[in-house]
Amino acid sequence: MSTEITLFEESFISSQVQAALPEGYTVRPLRENDYERGFLKVLEVLTEVGTQTKEQWLERFNYLKQHNHEYFTIAICNEHENRIVAAGTIFVERKFVHNNGLVGHIEDIAVDANQQGKKLGLRIIEALKYIGAKKGCYKVILDCSAKNIPFYEKCGFTQKEYEMAWYV
Ligand code: ACO
Repeated sequence: MSTEITLFEESFISSQVQAALPEGYTVRPLRENDYERGFLKVLEVLTEVGTQTKEQWLERFNYLKQHNHEYFTIAICNEHENRIVAAGTIFVERKFVHNNGLVGHIEDIAVDANQQGKKLGLRIIEALKYIGAKKGCYKVILDCSAKNIPFYEKCGFTQKEYEMAWYV
């Protein structure tokens, strides 16, 4: 068992998803030292990430940890290379509707460009759905581009509504 600081409890990680991963890969809560394992580099497949220092990383990591009943960021690590190869987040929103219901929002799904097509994206989504269900969410939703619709359909999602955005 690692002594590194993790974002949330390991019990939120599905053992079924872990068992389905290729040999040498682990799925786990984000860890403080994933900065050095290239977590931010993996996110670059999504959008511009920035050039955060370790101090800036820790500032955000510690905020998420203080709110780890709501923020669940997970990573898949290639243990042989000690590198992060995939990542994703589920944010648990607290509502009044649906009897003070909870909604899971999946965000920032990223698989390293050299590791795509190995079902790592699918495993990240399965692991996040497991967390959403364990937290008691009545639904889990996400926004994506048209080209990713077939991927999310394979992950068990169906198309609903439209996304709207306003940029400051
Ligand atoms: N179009 C059609 N099918 C796809 C696509 C696609 N774009 N991507 C994956 N699939 C299919 C695969 O063929 C596979 O099907 P199969 O089960 O029949 O073999 C299934 O979906 C699972 O694919 P994975 O191997 O798990 O996909 P991968 O690990 O490559 O992850 C992802 C997919 C996350 C989209 C990855 O390609 C990626 O990181 N892309 C760049 C970043 C991105 O677009 N992220 C999603 C943003 S949306 C959000 O974050 C909510």
